[in-house]
Amino acid sequence: MNLARTLRMGYTVSGNSRSSRKSIGIWRRRLIELFLSLGYAALVAVPAGGEDWGMGAANRQIARGAVFSPVSAPAGEIATLSWFILAVTAAIFLIVFGLLLYSVVRFRARATDEPREPAQLYGSNQIEFAWTAIPLLIVFVLVLTTIRTIYDVQGAMEPPGAIHVRVIGHQWWWEFRYPDLGIVTANELHVPLSDPAHPTPTWLQLESADVAHSFWVPRLAGKTDLIPNKINTMWVAPHQAGIYLGQCAEFCGTQHAMMLIRVVVEPRPAFDQWVAAQRQPAVSQSVEAHGRQVFESNACVSCHSVRGTRGHGTYGPDLTHLMSRQTLGSGAALNTPEHLKIWVGDPGRMKPGVLMPAMNLSKNDLDDLVAWMVTLK
Ligand code: CUA
Repeated sequence: MNLARTLRMGYTVSGNSRSSRKSIGIWRRRLIELFLSLGYAALVAVPAGGEDWGMGAANRQIARGAVFSPVSAPAGEIATLSWFILAVTAAIFLIVFGLLLYSVVRFRARATDEPREPAQLYGSNQIEFAWTAIPLLIVFVLVLTTIRTIYDVQGAMEPPGAIHVRVIGHQWWWEFRYPDLGIVTANELHVPLSDPAHPTPTWLQLESADVAHSFWVPRLAGKTDLIPNKINTMWVAPHQAGIYLGQCAEFCGTQHAMMLIRVVVEPRPAFDQWVAAQRQPAVSQSVEAHGRQVFESNACVSCHSVRGTRGHGTYGPDLTHLMSRQTLGSGAALNTPEHLKIWVGDPGRMKPGVLMPAMNLSKNDLDDLVAWMVTLK
């Protein structure tokens, strides 16, 4: 039996059968339901429990635009390459689909056609050669440009005087250590603005304290993984001041989504000022002495450091200059005294699954502790 007729018969039979029409209806409905539920999930998932702890408003003030609006050297080169590859592949797509569409319309079966197959052609050296050589050339160009970009990004030489930062991924927060400057901070990375004429890049050494994470700030650079027992490196040289949002990009446990990064890019004088402030020890001894006592006499000190106190823990973020940071819990909440009280009282309310336990402090102790913590500027 001839293929076209078989197909036509099959089509007619299934097209008339009630059961198959019904099953198409069910699948269409399932698809619509799937899209609706995905849309709904996207709407409700972000502020878990209906509360976003001030983060929605805070993040809306930060200029958006992701991978295609870079403000830093490696991201810029990667974006240029992406546009080039997109342009080449879009041209191929348009040509191939244009020809396909033309053929489908121009050579479609018409009622006046004679009911027989058209003439069959086999073999054409010119066509075979063309559709082997042209794709080969295109792939060769794409490979060359990609290799060049990879070499530029990964083979970049470190200029003298570059800022070094050790980035250590934890479940679920970021530790930033500036070994040359004697600074330890968390979740908010400060880097100086880099003048393209005299670049002052920041070199990041990526490590992990537990599982694999991935450091990704789309407007500054591509993703690089943080892998236990391995050191990866990357660099950024931002040429526009501002705050840039990033995200852990490797699933690392329940709060992977709440492992946000903020990068503060500021002109050199402002950066130096920040450095000087971070190097100061914690607040003076006298203020809010009882709150400090609560901190020092509880398990807080086994996880957190506050320079100048008995707290030397390294399991959790360094809190010496806690109030110089905009957020709590790695981007879970805006850093305000009210949020801080909720966070210390019951961290799981803001970040379910967080490894910091609720300390079950009395209301008095909690009030005094937070009153002392807000002096950690
Ligand atoms: Cu860390 Cu995902």
